[in-house]
Amino acid sequence: METYKNPSATVAERVEDLLRRMTLEEKVGQTNQLVGVEHFRHNLGLMNAGDLFRNTAQAIYVGCKPEDLELWTQQGRVGSFLHVNTIEEANHLQHLAMQSRLAVPLLFGIDAIHGNAYCFDNTVYPGNLGLACSFNPGLARRIARQTAAEMRAMNMHWTFNPNVEVARDARWGRCGETYGEDRYLVERMGVATVEGLQGNLDGATDVMACAKHWVGGSLPENGTNGSPADVSERTLRTTFFPPFKAAVDAGVATVMPSHNELNGVPCHSNRWLMTDVLRGEWGFDGFVVSDWMDIEHVHDLHGTAETVEEAYRQSITAGMDMHMHGPGWVDAVCQLVREGLIDESRIDESVRRILIMKFRLGLFEHPYADEEHTMQVRLCDEHRRTALEAARQSIVLLKNDGRLPLDCKRAYKILVTGINANDENIMGDWSAQQRPENVVTVLDGVRSIAAESAEVMFVDQGWDPRNMNAVMVERAASAAREADVNIVVAGEYMMRWRWHDRTGGEDTDRSDIDLVGLQYELIERVAASGKPTVLVLINGRPLGVERVAGKVAAIIEAWEPGMYGGQAIAEIIFGKVNPSAKLSITIPRSVGQLRSYYDHKPSMYFHPYVCASSEPLYPFGYGLSYTTFAYSRLSLSGEISPDGGGQIDVAVTVANTGNSDGVEIVQLYIRDEYSTFTRPVKELKDFKRVDLKAGEAKCVHFTLTADKLAMLDSSFSLVVEPGSFVVMVGASSRDCDLLKSKFVVKEK
Ligand code: BGC
Repeated sequence: METYKNPSATVAERVEDLLRRMTLEEKVGQTNQLVGVEHFRHNLGLMNAGDLFRNTAQAIYVGCKPEDLELWTQQGRVGSFLHVNTIEEANHLQHLAMQSRLAVPLLFGIDAIHGNAYCFDNTVYPGNLGLACSFNPGLARRIARQTAAEMRAMNMHWTFNPNVEVARDARWGRCGETYGEDRYLVERMGVATVEGLQGNLDGATDVMACAKHWVGGSLPENGTNGSPADVSERTLRTTFFPPFKAAVDAGVATVMPSHNELNGVPCHSNRWLMTDVLRGEWGFDGFVVSDWMDIEHVHDLHGTAETVEEAYRQSITAGMDMHMHGPGWVDAVCQLVREGLIDESRIDESVRRILIMKFRLGLFEHPYADEEHTMQVRLCDEHRRTALEAARQSIVLLKNDGRLPLDCKRAYKILVTGINANDENIMGDWSAQQRPENVVTVLDGVRSIAAESAEVMFVDQGWDPRNMNAVMVERAASAAREADVNIVVAGEYMMRWRWHDRTGGEDTDRSDIDLVGLQYELIERVAASGKPTVLVLINGRPLGVERVAGKVAAIIEAWEPGMYGGQAIAEIIFGKVNPSAKLSITIPRSVGQLRSYYDHKPSMYFHPYVCASSEPLYPFGYGLSYTTFAYSRLSLSGEISPDGGGQIDVAVTVANTGNSDGVEIVQLYIRDEYSTFTRPVKELKDFKRVDLKAGEAKCVHFTLTADKLAMLDSSFSLVVEPGSFVVMVGASSRDCDLLKSKFVVKEK
C-alpha cells in the first residue's frame, strides 16, 4: 500500500509521500476551489460576466459547463468546493474525486456562520453580533460544536467563520457577522468558536474554522464593504490584530484576507499580513484562502497588477495558499511555475498545508457522510434547545417604562405588525430558506405564549421595507386603537435568496442607519394610539431609533435571533424569560455620530457636538433586566510589577435588589491614567455572567494580570508602564454604571 494511503503512517509521512507522487497540475489543483455544480447550474441563465464581477455570493463560469467542473474533479484539478449545499451533492462530487488518479478527497467549505444555516434542514442559531450580547463564550463554544456536528453530517469540513473583525462602523452591512466593537469580547467569542468548531481537528465531528477577514474591512473609509482601510500600525496592533492573534494561538486552521486594501496594499497581495505577521510573528501553520475572487481584484479593481496572472503571482508569493474561486487558476498558476515566475517549492508549501488538514480530518479514510443517518444529527432536539437558549441570552432589552413584562394570563387584545412580525427573516443573514415549521416568528411566539383568551390581531406589512404600503400602515394604526398593547417588529431585511432586496448583511452598506421605508411612520402611527407599544428590532447592525425611542413603552433589540427567535422574544415580552443580554456594540443616535465606540481616546469628545448630544443612544455593555442589580464594595488587593509578575484581585458585591431572579453581566474595565502613548478612556478586560435569585447578593471576583494592563511601546512590544490604573466594575460601559478604584504599578 502507498504510504499516503496507510492510516498508521504519520500525517507528515503521508503528506510527503503524496506530494512526491503529484504532478504540478495535481498540486495546483489542491489549491483550487470552485463553486458547486448545482450552484453553477442554478445560476446559468440568471447571470452574465458583468454580474459575476460585482456579485460576492453567486457565480457562473463564463464559457464553461457544469459538467466541466465534474470532469476537472475526476482529473484531480480541484481541491475544494464552496457553496455545495446538500449532502447528496457533496457525496457525489467526493465520489468523482475518488476516481481521480491519486484519489485525494475534496474539502467542502461553507459559510456556516450561525449554524450550518446556509443549507436546508439545519439548526439556525442567533447571529454573531447578538450571540456576543450574551457575553457567554461557553455558549458560543457549544453552538460551534453542534454546528460542526451538523456540518460533518452533511460531509462539510470547513466553515468560513468566525469573523473576528472588530466592528467600528454601523454603516457597514456586515456588523452582524462580527462579535461587535470590543477587541476583548471579540477575542473571547472568536476563540471559543474556533475551539468548538475544531476540537482537535481529528475527530469525525470536527471541522476547520476560518478567521476572517484579515484585516481592516470593519473600518472601511466610507462604511462600504471592501472600501480602503487606512489604519495606523498602532491601531491595527492594538485593536484589530489581537482577535486574529488569539485565533491563531487557539490553532485556527485557516485565515481569509479581506476584500480591502490596507494602507495602500490590497490584503490579497499583502506579504506583511499573510507572511510576516501571520506566519513570521505568530507562527500560523494552517493555510490562507482568498476571499471571493479577490485575487482577481488585485488586478481588475485595485490595479496593482497589470494582468490577472500577475495578480496570482503577487498573491501566491505574498503567502496565499488557496484560490476562491474560478476556472482559470490551475492553468495560469502552472504556467507561472513553468516560466519560473513562481518557485514550485512555494506551491509545495501550500499543498502541504492543505493536505495536512485533509489527513487530520480523516478524509482519506472517511470521504463520505451517511445520507441515511444525517437527520439524526441535524436539527436534533439538543441543538434546537441550544438555539432557543442562545436566543434568550442574546436579546437585549433597551427600554422599559415598566409596561413589560406583559401578563401571560391576561386576556389582552394584542396587535402584532411590522415587516419582521411574521417572516423567516428572523433567522438572519447567511440563512437559507428553512421549513416554515422549524421557524418561530414573533407572531407565532406571541400566539403560543399569550393567554388563550387573549386576542392576537395581525396586520401584515409584507416583508419588504422598501415597498411598504401606506394603506397597511393606516390599517395598523386603526387596529392599534382597538388593542390593549401593540408589538411592532421592525428592522432590516437580510434574506440572501432575495439578494437585491436586502437592507442588511453583506454588501448592504448604508449612508445612514435609519429604518428603511415607512417603518418610522408605522411605529409613530401605532404609538399615537396611546396604547403601550413595544418595538422589537430584527437587524444585523445598530439602527438609529432615537426618533421613536421616546414614543414607545419598550424596545427589544433582538438582532438576528435565529429559528427560535420569535419564541424567545415572546418569552421575554411575557416575562417567561428575564432578559440578561448587554450590547456588544454601541447604538448611536444617528449616522452623524459614527464612528461611535466606547473605547475611544480621551480627546474624542473634548469638544462635543453642538446642536446634538455626543452620547450614544445606548452604550456598549448596556441592557436592562426585569429585576434591578446594585453594586457595592469594590475592593482591590495585590500588586503587579512592570516586569509582569503579580496580580490584582478585584472583588465586588452584586445584589439582586428586585423581585425576580435574573442574570447580571458584570463588566470590568481599566484605564491607564498616564501613558507614553494615548490609551482609551476605558478598556474591557473581563466579564462574568452572574445568576442571582431575587434578594440574593454575591461577591464576584476577577483577577487582573500584567498582560491585561499592557500597551505597545514604540517598537510595538507589549509593556506595562508604571503608574496608576483605574479599575471600573459595573453594569455597562457608562460612567454612571461603574464603581471605580485605583491601584499603582510601581517603578522597578
Ligand atoms: C465573503 C466571505 C465568504 C465568501 C464565501 C465572500 O463574499 O466576503 O466572508 O466566506 O464570500 O461565501
